[in-house]
Amino acid sequence: MPPSIHATYRLKAETSNIMKRITLLIITIGALGGVVALTVRASRSAYQEGTPSYVTEIPEGYREWRFISVAHEEANLNSFASVLGNDIAIKAYREGQLPFPEGAIIAALHYKFVPSAENNKAFGRDQSFVAGAPTNIQFMIKDSKKYTATGGWGFGHFNNDGKKVDDAFMKTCFPCHQKIKERDLVFTRYAP
Ligand code: HEC
Repeated sequence: MPPSIHATYRLKAETSNIMKRITLLIITIGALGGVVALTVRASRSAYQEGTPSYVTEIPEGYREWRFISVAHEEANLNSFASVLGNDIAIKAYREGQLPFPEGAIIAALHYKFVPSAENNKAFGRDQSFVAGAPTNIQFMIKDSKKYTATGGWGFGHFNNDGKKVDDAFMKTCFPCHQKIKERDLVFTRYAP
């Protein structure tokens, strides 16, 4: 075999080797892509099938929102709640719009329910209770696409001491709020 032919042959052999490797690479990438796509699809469908999803970030500016009402709970909570709404929530409340529109956010700012010695002194008897140390903030965010599994509302709970709440605790929000389905899961009425 003349050297030139030999060289050509070797070149052909190498080319076909490279082609084989490229084909293998394409198959590998394709397979990997398939696995990734399947994984994404699997996690999405799990999400849609009812995995609860929680609000993980405190909405910005909530302390500037407007007053909806207050609530006091006794027993072990012994708390005061100040319920505030963003503009979308306030508008919906005032217009009696149900269900609440997308983007509505309701915040419940919780404080300890404490007697005020200072105020009682002024009254001359024990009758004053005020907001003590903040304990936690809860949010309900309306986003029907994101929170399909929990009635279109995302529930969030943030402890004042920064302690994270566990899944078991977060799973209690939706079932209880579902008891007020006729008002789109919102208990608090607008205080004029
Ligand atoms: C056992 C029932 C129950 C559970 C569990 C519960 N809530 Fe509530 N929630 C209420 C009631 C009743 C109110 C009305 C005001 C009040 O008494 O504090 C309320 C009020 C609220 C409000 C003000 C808007 C509204 O619906 O009145 C927010 C926000 C809120 N809850 C968030 C949460 C979050 C977040 C969780 C889970 C961590 C949660 N709730 C768990 C019963 C519940």
